[in-house]
Amino acid sequence: MTLNPADRWNQRYAQPEYAYGSLPNVYFQSRLDELTPGTILLPADGEGRNGVYAATRGWDVDSFDISTEGQKKALALAKERNVNIRYHVGTLDTAPFLNQTFDALALVYAHFSPDTRSDYLASLVNLLKVGGYVIFEAFSKENLLYRGKNPGIGGPPDAGSLYSLQEVRSAFEHFSIVELAQVETELHEGLYHNGLGSVIRFFGRKL
Ligand SMILES: C[S@@+](CC[C@H](N)C(=O)[O-])C[C@H]1O[C@@H](n2cnc3c(N)ncnc32)[C@H](O)[C@@H]1O
Repeated sequence: MTLNPADRWNQRYAQPEYAYGSLPNVYFQSRLDELTPGTILLPADGEGRNGVYAATRGWDVDSFDISTEGQKKALALAKERNVNIRYHVGTLDTAPFLNQTFDALALVYAHFSPDTRSDYLASLVNLLKVGGYVIFEAFSKENLLYRGKNPGIGGPPDAGSLYSLQEVRSAFEHFSIVELAQVETELHEGLYHNGLGSVIRFFGRKL
């Protein structure tokens, strides 16, 4: 039986361990620490490691994800770290956000379904204020080669769910780019991202 995406993620997050650890993604952390805290949106925040980190740095955090188990883990982590985040369960079209209201948007391993991804990203960019920042890290299409040699790196198994530089550049077309790069990197993130992989990073400011 094939599970739908929400059930698949719920199954992964129902384990007691944090699937990608309880510490933030290193690139997200380093870029966030350069910014003055304000409002931030984290789509696909999973078990909340990144949203909770932002809250500990003084950001006003909204997260959303399709997984109810992810929400439980995220709220437990927020409680443990003594901070609050708002975590909405659902897809973007069921979320209560208004256009041009966020100072930052963080997309960390947000491998949305390929058929709707460009519209999804465009709608997310609309939620950002002019002058707001995007912090992005996700697996590149080349990660399939790394995954073949080292399954522990994880990431989607199909090229369609992975990003190319060109796609990321066009999703953030109307941005001043601080960094856009495909890099080989070593990840140590919980149970499912371990070893050498290939990621795309973007950091830029909406024009
Ligand atoms: C690889 S996990 C990354 C989780 C988190 N960003 C992190 O880095 O720890 C991908 C996440 O995307 C979420 N997701 C997939 N499709 C989604 C959608 N259409 N809307 C919101 N979240 C989605 C999944 O539930 C899962 O939590």
